[in-house]
Amino acid sequence: MTEEIVKSALSKVLYPGFTKDIVTFGFVNNIVIDGNDVSFTVEITSSAPEVAQQISDDANKELKAIGALNVTCNVKAPQMPRESSSHGKNIAPQVKNFLMVSSGKGGVGKSTTSVNIAIALAAQGKKVGLLDADIYGPNIPRMMGIDDVKPEVNGNKVLPIKAYGIEVMSMGSLMEPGQSLIWRGAMIMKAIEQFLRDILWSELDVLVIDMPPGTGDAQLTLAQSVPVTVGLTVTTPQGVSLDDSRRSLDMFRKLNIPIAGIIENMSGFIAPDTGVEYDIFGKGTSQPMADEFDTKIIAEIPIEPSIRTGGDEGKPITFVNPSSETSKRYIAAAESIWASIEEINANGGVDNKGVQPTTAPGVSACSTAAAPKQEAPKDESCGTGCGCH
Ligand SMILES: Nc1ncnc2c1ncn2[C@@H]1O[C@H](COP(=O)(O)OP(=O)(O)O)[C@@H](O)[C@H]1O
Ligand SMILES: [Mg+2]
Repeated sequence: MTEEIVKSALSKVLYPGFTKDIVTFGFVNNIVIDGNDVSFTVEITSSAPEVAQQISDDANKELKAIGALNVTCNVKAPQMPRESSSHGKNIAPQVKNFLMVSSGKGGVGKSTTSVNIAIALAAQGKKVGLLDADIYGPNIPRMMGIDDVKPEVNGNKVLPIKAYGIEVMSMGSLMEPGQSLIWRGAMIMKAIEQFLRDILWSELDVLVIDMPPGTGDAQLTLAQSVPVTVGLTVTTPQGVSLDDSRRSLDMFRKLNIPIAGIIENMSGFIAPDTGVEYDIFGKGTSQPMADEFDTKIIAEIPIEPSIRTGGDEGKPITFVNPSSETSKRYIAAAESIWASIEEINANGGVDNKGVQPTTAPGVSACSTAAAPKQEAPKDESCGTGCGCH
């Protein structure tokens, strides 16, 4: 066996998805022949594990066909950029990326979106956590089918609950059903910090965070506690919802959070019996807002009874019926969000230094760097979403 013979056998191995072979591409080097044993390196440009596997399998087959006994194919692929490259304060450093799901108002489908995006990301092989930070209306336990599950407590730390392959935590899992708490600013800040610091999240690729509606203490505290990698805004197509969503997008800007896109929910209704599409709240009306904020609509999710029943029964549509049109849209949106996360990390990540409070914890958030310098009139928002007015 000679190097020429080995090269000629390897030139039958096509690079997956191409008509050219790995030798012609110049990917093969370090060929070492020891009797009938062959080892070599293939240096490829794709980080997809299937590509490496396919090359290794095909190379083995071709070399065995010419009488090689032991074949060692070392595929060198670039590392998947899964590490976060973000900086600043991070009180949950084992979490690599944070996705903040926001909306201007309640009832637009923020929790539904958070659940289905989290499931779609997990289906794509990511390690995912889902934090229900909507302390006023914690609906995630019901939507994930864990409303009667109590989390395990370990000293003063709490283990997240596992459901559909995702780690989940919610105020709803920590309180008695139907109980309510009257939240004051300082309590909200403390709750958000504890959700990040005292919940034993594993090493996660991404933590999806379902925020309370609006722009207030919870949003500011989250942005100050961890470097939020991307923000996602959920809106419905009506004008009044769009007005509120603009505020949510503006908040991302003020908090230096890159925007992954907009999900237009309840966008049209396709009658299940006739297939006729009705524009109940309108459709596609978010586009001018997306343009204004230099972002895109990453999914239009129709009104669909199975989304609602999936939520009520704790059987998310993306998990129980992943091939439905709606699930496909959630899956595509999750892919788009992940592409944004990878791009942000490849460009150096995010930094929350600019939004840190300049005063001691618990003191008015209005004195942070994020707040504009001018005095805000009494009882009127200063525009930072600080929640103090
Ligand atoms: N696209 C949709 N089609 C049908 N029902 C939906 C859709 N999106 C949300 N819902 C339902 O509307 C209600 C409000 O959604 P939810 O996700 O709880 O909103 P938010 O978290 O913004 O308050 C829930 O009952 C949910 O199941
Ligand atoms: Mg909700």
